[in-house]
Amino acid sequence: MNTVIVGTQWGDEGKGKIIDILSADSDYIVRYQGGNNAGHTVVVDDKEYIFHLIPSGILHKGKICCLGNGVVVDPAVLIKEIESLSKSGIEIDTRLKISGLVHVILPYHKILDQLRETKRKYRIGTTGRGIGPCYADKINRCGIRMIDLLNESVFKDKLRDNLNEKNEIFKKVFGHHGFKFSRIYDEYLRYGKIFSRYICNISGLLRKAIKNKKDILFEGAQGTFLDIDFGTYPFVTSSSTISAGACIGTGVSVSAIDRVVGVAKAYTTRVGEGPFPTEFEPAFAEAIRAKGSEFGATTGRPRRCGWFDSVMVKESILLNGITELAIMKMDVLSGLKRIKICTAYKYKGKIFKEFPYDLEVITRAKPVYKEINGWSKTLALPRSYNQLPAGARDYISLLEDLLQTKITIISVGSGRLDTIFLD
Ligand code: GDP
Ligand code: IMO
Ligand code: MG
Repeated sequence: MNTVIVGTQWGDEGKGKIIDILSADSDYIVRYQGGNNAGHTVVVDDKEYIFHLIPSGILHKGKICCLGNGVVVDPAVLIKEIESLSKSGIEIDTRLKISGLVHVILPYHKILDQLRETKRKYRIGTTGRGIGPCYADKINRCGIRMIDLLNESVFKDKLRDNLNEKNEIFKKVFGHHGFKFSRIYDEYLRYGKIFSRYICNISGLLRKAIKNKKDILFEGAQGTFLDIDFGTYPFVTSSSTISAGACIGTGVSVSAIDRVVGVAKAYTTRVGEGPFPTEFEPAFAEAIRAKGSEFGATTGRPRRCGWFDSVMVKESILLNGITELAIMKMDVLSGLKRIKICTAYKYKGKIFKEFPYDLEVITRAKPVYKEINGWSKTLALPRSYNQLPAGARDYISLLEDLLQTKITIISVGSGRLDTIFLD
């Protein structure tokens, strides 16, 4: 069974926890897009691991963890992650596989990402990790790929060509001194040597795995509304975060995907700028942020918080072909007297039941809410659906009704055991 896990909102839905759980029954876990803008948290026996590049399945012995061609890699970050996991006794060398076609983040990408944010009228609030500029070079056909780092003369030519153009731009547009060839060249050749043991043909590897009836888990990063095409553009990331990205970002054919699991928080969060129709008032946002520890796993920024938006998640289900949902962080809503769910948007007297792609509408629309009673009991202990308080069960039923999709996992805490599985 080949399964894609995808975020249905603006990222940080709890994908890491679900990947970790489903990894137990998979042979390969594959990242297919994004880079170290992602921060996926897995909690095992009270120890917290935050993964930025290495797939969240790495904690399971013997599983093969891959970075597909659609990922962008900052070598220094990957090395740090490998070293830190190795120190915890996790075996990496025989289990990590990196596509030679992965694009590499260079120092000028990171600086450009940060400089562009200071120049723009509308900041995106990027993670500043060089993600956008690296993908821009990929599409512009001047990117440097992992495999280039293994060939001195190819890398030399590509880097020189890039620096000739980029240093002019850095000086003239941004008043920045630019980058020295030799420094980057030496540093990145060294990375090439380190990574050579991991680099392979990922699409070939996965094709063989499929032929041998192995199970593959595709680990989405970010979320549907950060997708470069279907997200709240321009307040998005620079990759295809929807499930179709799993094929483009690995070379596995669409016919090989059996199942798409959508991960949604029981409410909504967003880091960075951009429209957010159901966003809470500041005081309530602060209370939920504190209760749900809603601070970015990558940048530590406070996450903006709001009510569950079924208009968005319904669109997500259609875009991704989601066959089942995991609802996360239900425990955070405990203790609220009333809970709201957005069922439509209102803009200029018109009701929108389907997600409107005009950013102007999404920015100015007022949410239409359905309100239900909450529950007072803590959700810390339930291990089965029937043990959930009636209010929590009503909330889940209402979500299923509105979304017309079955909920197969309910998460009530960050640990592996704080999870309820439904058929
Ligand atoms: P990801 O990027 O989608 O993997 O999500 P993040 O790791 O960035 O953010 C999710 C956060 O919520 C992490 O700190 C998780 O440990 C935590 N988490 C996951 N599920 C639950 C849950 O059901 N309840 C609570 N309270 N925390 C959870
Ligand atoms: P995970 O995988 C939440 C957001 C940034 C910013 C926008 C563009 O942990 O869910 P970028 O650096 O990608 O150019 O920033 O996207 N963003 C995320 N928000 N979770 C993420 O990843 C994110 N990755 C990027 O905050 O608004
Ligand atoms: Mg995250």
